Order: sequence, then C-alpha cells, then structure tokens
Amino acid sequence: MYMSKKTLKVSKIKDGTVIDHITRGHALDVIKLLGIDGRSGGVVTIAINVPSKKLGVKDMVKIEGRELNPEEVDKIALISPRATINIIRDYKVVEKQKVKLPPIVQGIIKCIKPSCISNSEKEPVKPKFYVVSENPLRLRCHYCNSILEEEDVLKQF
Ligand code: CTP
Ligand code: ZN
Repeated sequence: MYMSKKTLKVSKIKDGTVIDHITRGHALDVIKLLGIDGRSGGVVTIAINVPSKKLGVKDMVKIEGRELNPEEVDKIALISPRATINIIRDYKVVEKQKVKLPPIVQGIIKCIKPSCISNSEKEPVKPKFYVVSENPLRLRCHYCNSILEEEDVLKQF
C-alpha cells in the first residue's frame, strides 16, 4: 500500500463504533466514560488534534467490537455536543447518529451541592439541569441554582 511520508493512515475497523467529531481535547474523557482501560477487548484507536473540515481540529475514537448504549451516548453529548456516532458492520457505516445535547439534562449527573434536594435520599426528586453553555460546558441546577462546570461533570464519569 502506498503511504505518503506525511500522512499516517488510521485503519478502518471491521465491526464496532467510530466516535467522530469529538471536541478537541476530549478523546480521553470519552475513553474514560466508556470504561475503556485497554486491558480487555479489541483494538481501540485514539486520534487527538486531527484536522477536520467541520471543526478545524477534532478528536476521534474507534472501538473495535463494541456498540454504545443510550446512556453512554448521552454522556458523550455532554462533553462533545457535535460528535457523530458511526456504527460499523463488516467495514461499512450502517448507522450514523449525531449526538444531541438537550436544553434540559435529566438523570445522568448529580448536583454538586450535597444539601440539594435532588441529592436527598428521602425525596423522590430526579436531578435536573439547564444547559447554560455548551463549550465549555456549564449546567445550572433546577433546584438549587448551583452551577456545574465541565470538570464537575467529568469527575462523575
Ligand atoms: N470508519 C472506520 N472504519 C470503517 C468505516 C468508517 O474507521 N470500516 C471511520 C471513517 O474513517 C470516518 C468515520 O468512520 O472517520 C465515518 O465514516 P464515513 O461516514 O465514511 O466518513 P465521512 O463521510 O467523512 O463522515 P462524516 O460525514 O460524518 O464526517
Ligand atoms: Zn442542586
């Protein structure tokens, strides 16, 4: 196979998931929230700061032999609201899904304030946040108005 000295080709995968258009600097957060530690399973390829037509620069993660569940997709949306999830089967992209960061985020993360009613075990109150800003991510708690910064969210993954 011909390869220019200036480009390194990242292999296509046979079966699995390609998470593309990850916000620059967030590939390793995606790896972490998926619980990938590299000690089991198939090939995982991580590309950081690669050129992108849409984003200028992007990160990308390719995971052989794994598809994602809806909760994992929602978490990726929080840290990479423009990511694309491509399902690959027999080398073909059989499904392409854009993640979606809804204006109101419910159930995936907890409020940082211990005394918030959404953290009370006695109250059947589900955490609920408003997206104040996407990049950098900032969320506001519906119940106590606490602001969660990106790092507060990443700590929970
Ligand atoms: N890909 C892969 N292995 C395959 C098929 C695709 O790793 N067997 C990767 C491609 O390298 C690309 C991503 O999956 O990074 C999406 O593939 P494709 O839809 O073919 O690329 P684009 O059209 O460039 O995607 P988009 O329009 O979402 O930018
Ligand atoms: Zn709160």
